[in-house]
Amino acid sequence: MKIVIGCDHAGFNIKDKVIAHLKEKGHEVVEVGTFSTDSCHYPVYAHAACKKILGGECELGILICGTGIGMSMAANKHDGIRAACCSDTFSARLTREHNDANILCIGERVVGVGLALDLVDAFVNAEYMNSGNHVTRVAMLKDIEEGKLD
Ligand code: RB5
Repeated sequence: MKIVIGCDHAGFNIKDKVIAHLKEKGHEVVEVGTFSTDSCHYPVYAHAACKKILGGECELGILICGTGIGMSMAANKHDGIRAACCSDTFSARLTREHNDANILCIGERVVGVGLALDLVDAFVNAEYMNSGNHVTRVAMLKDIEEGKLD
């Protein structure tokens, strides 16, 4: 799978470990920065990662900041992006299976490296169920984006 990864300065230390882990599992990784611990602005990197997914270059994305929250807020401003900020593996798996999430957001200041890698595995290895009410509900998210839900 081709996966885009982005972070801000507060997610920089975990990023390299996530990249190494994904490559070890056979995935291709596209990096959109940041590339140092110098203070920067998370929306820049969330936007860069979303463009890779919406443009079709990457299937899934991982975004890391201090809490994961700013990245998820920025990513979810994009039509077609379903970003989930998770700090437990059950949610990381279910957000793929039920919500067809295409971005996992992680908080480096919230979880340790070991849990971060487990979150990535749970997310990347899960598959969207693509049936029944899940399809209806994900379609309703699109309806909201398009102003069609009353
Ligand atoms: C940076 O200090 C921090 O605010 C950012 O990484 C993130 O946690 C925001 O949601």
